[in-house]
Amino acid sequence: MRAVVQPDGEAVGTYAAELIERRLRENPRLVLGLPTGQTPLPMYAALIRRQREAGLDFSQVTTFNLDEYVGLPAQDPRSYAFYMEKHFFAHVALPRSQVFLPNGEAADPYEEALRYEQLLQSHGGLDLAIVGIGRNGHIGFNEPAERLMARTHVAVLSEETRTANARFFGSPEAVPPTAITVGMAAVGQAKEVLLLASGSAKAAAVAAACSGEVTTHLPASLLQLHPNATFLLDRQAAAQLRDNDGYE
Ligand code: PGA
Repeated sequence: MRAVVQPDGEAVGTYAAELIERRLRENPRLVLGLPTGQTPLPMYAALIRRQREAGLDFSQVTTFNLDEYVGLPAQDPRSYAFYMEKHFFAHVALPRSQVFLPNGEAADPYEEALRYEQLLQSHGGLDLAIVGIGRNGHIGFNEPAERLMARTHVAVLSEETRTANARFFGSPEAVPPTAITVGMAAVGQAKEVLLLASGSAKAAAVAAACSGEVTTHLPASLLQLHPNATFLLDRQAAAQLRDNDGYE
């Protein structure tokens, strides 16, 4: 695992987009894992710019989003499907038949998790998983716990996560209690993982994930075991890394 530190969240986005661009030019049929949230917004904006300015070609790319709330239709502005449409898919020439998210409205979310996992497997897993990190160290909705699920599953959101996401719903109680998320195996078996973090709220989780114990109580710490994982941080998110953590 290596860490790369950039000045701010914008620069994190630009760096991430440049890395995706390089991988895409090597392999136009890239299978990407995609995150939502505040952190990746500059990355999506930079990718859209690269399509416009440098002809970056998404036509053969396949994308799998990491997660979706159970019970929210894609038309709901708080759903991740809506977020992706608004911030990325509406602006790039990426055929919708190659875009996948868990269906938050599925009649049976457990069946849907199984279907999503099979779909992911049938594409050979992820080439490049772009992920965020929660303040509690979660990845996707793999929340800190005694045990973690390897495969796509229905996850119960932690108190911290419902509080962190309350800004979109009015109150923590209004945040959906469950979500469908890929499991840690989707990330762990990706050929490459790029974790994005910006802002001081992530500093403690980032430091613990980079150099603390590997533990299910901090799912991002499992990336220490990955042969090709990069923590891409802004200065604030990197503030609690120690000098001997060997970052660039
Ligand atoms: P954020 O979410 O980018 O909005 O902080 C990241 C996460 O919780 O995984």
